[in-house]
Amino acid sequence: MRKQRIDVRQSTGQSRIPLGTENKNMAIQWFPGHMHLTRKAIGERIREIDVVIELLDARLPGSSANPMLAELTRGKPALKVLNKQDLADPARTAQWLAHYNAMPGVRALPLDAGMATPARALVDACHQLAPLRGGMAKPMRVLICGIPNVGKSTLINTLKGKRAAKTGDEAGVTKTEQRITIADDFYLYDTPGVLWPRIIVAKSGYNLAASGAIGRNAFDDEEVALELLDYLRQHYPQALAARYGLLDAEALSDEQVLEGVGRRRGALQSGGRVNVQKAAEIAIHDFRSGALGRITLESPEEFAQWLAAGEKLDAERQVKKDAIEQARLMRLKKVPRPARVDEPDEPSD
Ligand code: G4P
Repeated sequence: MRKQRIDVRQSTGQSRIPLGTENKNMAIQWFPGHMHLTRKAIGERIREIDVVIELLDARLPGSSANPMLAELTRGKPALKVLNKQDLADPARTAQWLAHYNAMPGVRALPLDAGMATPARALVDACHQLAPLRGGMAKPMRVLICGIPNVGKSTLINTLKGKRAAKTGDEAGVTKTEQRITIADDFYLYDTPGVLWPRIIVAKSGYNLAASGAIGRNAFDDEEVALELLDYLRQHYPQALAARYGLLDAEALSDEQVLEGVGRRRGALQSGGRVNVQKAAEIAIHDFRSGALGRITLESPEEFAQWLAAGEKLDAERQVKKDAIEQARLMRLKKVPRPARVDEPDEPSD
């Protein structure tokens, strides 16, 4: 029943893409579009940027990071902000912070929208990362980025407070970006549009979908709920016991857990059978809202393993694609066929 073909249906405004069929690694793909504009805008701005703040979802820091951003901002000091930490497992957040803080040129902070004054911590961390910037002659210039729904608008609005103004029509500030003045010598540039990574880690696709970062019509609720419950069953069985009365979740299959969710929460249809779609929606909603407790869907070690496996599969797929393209070009006689080993060499003069 599960982990077969997934219908990746795209919602309005997003490009339709092929179904993930060959393996789990292609299970969820999603392209919000207009990425080339975003890429260009970041590329143009990055030279004048002192620190890049990447907002991550503390429940899935690895999956909510954007490798393309890392490429575009290479060499710049980076502040990783683990946002929505109020929803994440505090022990896991501590692991992720230690993981990032051990990287050269990187600092990491936990944050959530409930914090009254997040600006101080952010500003201090930026000054530590770029100590030569500051003062009116050399104001700190910071770029803030993050995937959809990670809480960027909420944070920016808090940082803006009453004082700061949107100054998008100033000279030197492109129409698509915003410059927010946090202090007289501290400017925050908001990345325009969306920079969405190509998902090469299957688990990242599921975790992003569970978190609410992916458009609703681009994934299958049941598939995502089963993956979520599988992880909870193994790592947070107490959450399943507390919320759904499933005392032996570790011993159940994912489908049985989903059925248990439906029964407990009254997602039933005629004949008393569980309405699986409804049960899946409930499980996803309970995770997003924090009703299941503070949960993190990946540790740094797990994510590193998923990434290595995803990159290997991706490389293998690329080799196959290249071979198919090469064969096509040879058929069209656009490239010469390689000489056979037993063919005699051309006689030389
Ligand atoms: P974005 O600009 O990055 O796309 O995200 P935005 O600020 O709009 O925030 C997305 C959702 O996440 C909002 O919920 C917002 O209230 C919530 N959010 C932001 N920061 C935090 C945080 O630190 N903790 C928690 N618990 N929630 C946070 P929403 O308006 O209800 O939208 P949705 O969840 O229904 O999509």
